[in-house]
Amino acid sequence: MNNFTFHNPVRLLFGAGQIAALSREVPRGAKVLMTFGGGSIKVNGVYDQVRKALIDFEVIEFGGIEPNPTFETLMRAVEVVRKENVEFLLAVGGGSVLDGTKFISAAAKFEGDPWSLLTRRMPVKAAVPYGTVLTLPATGSEMNANAVVSRQVTQEKLAFGSPLLFPKFSIVDPETTYSLPPRQIANGVVDAFVHVAEQYLTTPSKAPLQDRFAESILRTLIEDGPKTLANPMDYEARSSVVWCATMALNGLIGCGVPQDWSTHMIGHELTAFHGLDHAQTLAIILPNLLWVQRETKHEKLLQYAGRVWDIKEGNDATRLEQAIIRTRGFFESMGNPTHLSDYAVGSEHFEEIVARLESRKMLPMGERKNLDAEKVREVLALAR
Ligand code: NZQ
Ligand code: ZN
Repeated sequence: MNNFTFHNPVRLLFGAGQIAALSREVPRGAKVLMTFGGGSIKVNGVYDQVRKALIDFEVIEFGGIEPNPTFETLMRAVEVVRKENVEFLLAVGGGSVLDGTKFISAAAKFEGDPWSLLTRRMPVKAAVPYGTVLTLPATGSEMNANAVVSRQVTQEKLAFGSPLLFPKFSIVDPETTYSLPPRQIANGVVDAFVHVAEQYLTTPSKAPLQDRFAESILRTLIEDGPKTLANPMDYEARSSVVWCATMALNGLIGCGVPQDWSTHMIGHELTAFHGLDHAQTLAIILPNLLWVQRETKHEKLLQYAGRVWDIKEGNDATRLEQAIIRTRGFFESMGNPTHLSDYAVGSEHFEEIVARLESRKMLPMGERKNLDAEKVREVLALAR
């Protein structure tokens, strides 16, 4: 096991009815900017619950943060924060609203061009404090300090993070997710699954507890993901999926182990160029990346086959292949196709994707730094 420092200061309030606790969690007397997306919270009752809990607070609203939140929209919120001297941000929505609010929090205090937080990874030295009410289990954004922001004019999608960007608190009420359409339920399960895979399907590192954390999350998603799709109001299955998504990316399972975020990096480019949902890109890339990297990931893939999929018969090559086939089948059974052609996307941007990864000095990627330009091309070609 490698050395690590684990610090996660997020106060997490989990369960039905927890939105009422907002009145205690938001600092008394603070001027609040409530951020949200395209309106789902107004349809499912979350907006009303939040406003009721904050009846004694001065609240300004900023709606319209889009999926894959854009710099252009978020900078308008930054102006509001500065002009109105907002003291606390409250993000209400899915990963995009939460990520967007992290950017607003950092950008409002940043001197210089806030886009450089993403392009040049300029350090965040100050941030407006914020809390979240999560309505879509997927990203783990409610309990981590990372964010991904897109820029429309340049068709870029970039990530950044800072220890100053952890939420002060997050309210996670599984009932707020009942209104999710099947596509977003599927996206959430796939995103959480791939977060775990990218911290687990690497090289063996004598970290048995982290391995078993990862395997338990994967098995739970395989069990409860389909139940949630079939019966959206099954509270037990839903809360299980929601907690899996949080645990998949709050830093715990990645402590002291090698990680490989190549699927995410390639996936972000597919969203940037084609506007695919984040998890749709992951379902397309992961199975092919595992195949291309099957020698590098050989031992962990065999462990995954046995412990996650109960594949015990056959030689190494057969069990390994079966594990990848089962992974692809799981994504498809949740409703996420695994080929670019399923979304009418062709190969027109493949070379630009490789060139971008190269120009950002991200290649070679992977836990052994052996996923080079040629292999990225191979992964993309298989994904067609
Ligand atoms: O905008 P509204 O109207 O709220 O609708 C949203 C949106 O259309 C809707 N939705 C959310 N909660 C709902 C709901 N609809 C009905 N009922 C509800 N309860 O769902 C749609 C998608 O929402 P979005 O927030 O975009 O989805 P998700 O949570 O999957 O977030 C994706 C974003 O997070 C980034 C992705 O790249 C992408 O930009 N990620 C963030 C990470 C992080 N912070 O650590 C890690 C991830 O790997 C990921 O990259
Ligand atoms: Zn993700």
